[in-house]
Amino acid sequence: MALYATAATVLAAVEGRRGSIKGLVYASSFQNVKQLYALVCETQRYSAVLDAVIAGAGLLRAEKKLRPHLAKVLVYELLLGKGFRGGGGRWRPLLERHQARLKAELARLKVQRRVSRNEDLLQVGSRPGTASQVPRFVRVNTLKTSPEDAVDYFKRQGFSYQGRASSLEDLRALKGKCFLLDPLLPELLVFPAQTDLHDHPLYRAGHLILQDKASCLPAMLLAPPPGSHVLDACAAPGNKTSHLAALLRNQGKIFAFDRDAARLASMATLLARAGVSCCELAEEDFLAVSPSDRRYRHVQYILLDPSCSGSGMPARPLEEPGAGTPSKARLQALAGFQQRALRHALSFPSLQRLVYSTCSLCQEENEDVVWDALQQNPGAFRLAPVLPSWPHRGLSTFPGAEHCLRASPETTLTGGFFVAVLERVEVSSSVPEAEAAAPELTAGAARRRKKRRRRASAPGTPQVRGAEPAPGGS
Ligand SMILES: C[S@@+](CC[C@H](N)C(=O)[O-])C[C@H]1O[C@@H](n2cnc3c(N)ncnc32)[C@H](O)[C@@H]1O
Repeated sequence: MALYATAATVLAAVEGRRGSIKGLVYASSFQNVKQLYALVCETQRYSAVLDAVIAGAGLLRAEKKLRPHLAKVLVYELLLGKGFRGGGGRWRPLLERHQARLKAELARLKVQRRVSRNEDLLQVGSRPGTASQVPRFVRVNTLKTSPEDAVDYFKRQGFSYQGRASSLEDLRALKGKCFLLDPLLPELLVFPAQTDLHDHPLYRAGHLILQDKASCLPAMLLAPPPGSHVLDACAAPGNKTSHLAALLRNQGKIFAFDRDAARLASMATLLARAGVSCCELAEEDFLAVSPSDRRYRHVQYILLDPSCSGSGMPARPLEEPGAGTPSKARLQALAGFQQRALRHALSFPSLQRLVYSTCSLCQEENEDVVWDALQQNPGAFRLAPVLPSWPHRGLSTFPGAEHCLRASPETTLTGGFFVAVLERVEVSSSVPEAEAAAPELTAGAARRRKKRRRRASAPGTPQVRGAEPAPGGS
């Protein structure tokens, strides 16, 4: 059938990095462009899963004449799509001969990756695609320059500025010396993946920070206003700290902790180069930092980006399959620390908003940690419903988990990442501003707060606020 053959040709061209899906689909002579586009996009989204299923079922070994990309499109239709369109022609009997083995392979993959739905295979995959799939994101350090000035500088150097991107497709299509502004983050420039800016004068002068887009989400979503007090619990090497300082415009205070002296030393250099002057660095175990210490009495914002398995970091070329998959024991140890750190962070008395993030794709380090914290503090915190248009959401392991964000090379063109924004439930418009901000409450105010908290709490379940985007959201 022409649809499948054309889709296979377009897919082969796209995966061979010879063009964007859109360009190729419209260049094809196939009449139902919409149908073709959807089929190629979906097949490509599941590409790694389909490769694993096809290899496991031995399809290409058994059917020597079947081309790999055509096999991918057909197996997508058979197992993940809505079934063969227009009957499937001559491909249908061929695929049906292998149907049982292909289905068994898909089921085995789900068991192995501990997921139940097909789409979850996209999220808890093995190591996500290679780094070459992810564009080079460059955050403009607004403590030192502006996006406009940075754009002008690159233009003078012969780069071609394409304006603000409107979709991920624009990012995917970047080539040569072209660059864009990111559609979501106002100070993020996007270059083709191969662009190396480590020796660029603006980078060396601290005007640019080479930081993946997903890793910019935590500070952006924490959105502390200038003048506020922020705690960065596991801070080194400090990219997110410098982003926080830029949002604060160096006004206010960041208490940054890390227990690794060497990492802190390079963080100090990075912060100095970035012009950060509002940050106090401390070589300290965050779990030993006392929430009742008066120094932290005005801390309303906490960023917790703890050590994790790094299973979301894009694979390095030629890395062994499964290299990014942590052992069960390591996962348990990491998740234990992450839970303790999150519970500890939530015990800071003035805390209003917290961002929890990891560069892991493992549910144990992400949704499970957040769910544990919400259960430990029934009714006190809820997940803020951030960035409703972000395409990749938390795994639906508990009510409201879709408010968490996930990221991956396949779905968001970034490294693999997880972010959850927790906010305190209690502050309502009837609470006077000064009372809400002051940690030393009067007895009467404390009683009134306690009463409100009791009313707001639903034991055992996290509170999820309505659908309005959080500050700094899309
Ligand atoms: C994922 S990295 C943080 C990256 C950092 N937020 C950034 O954006 O550059 C995790 C950091 O947590 C630190 N860490 C691990 N356990 C800690 C603890 N108990 N207290 C403070 N820092 C800790 C590690 O040394 C490591 O530097």
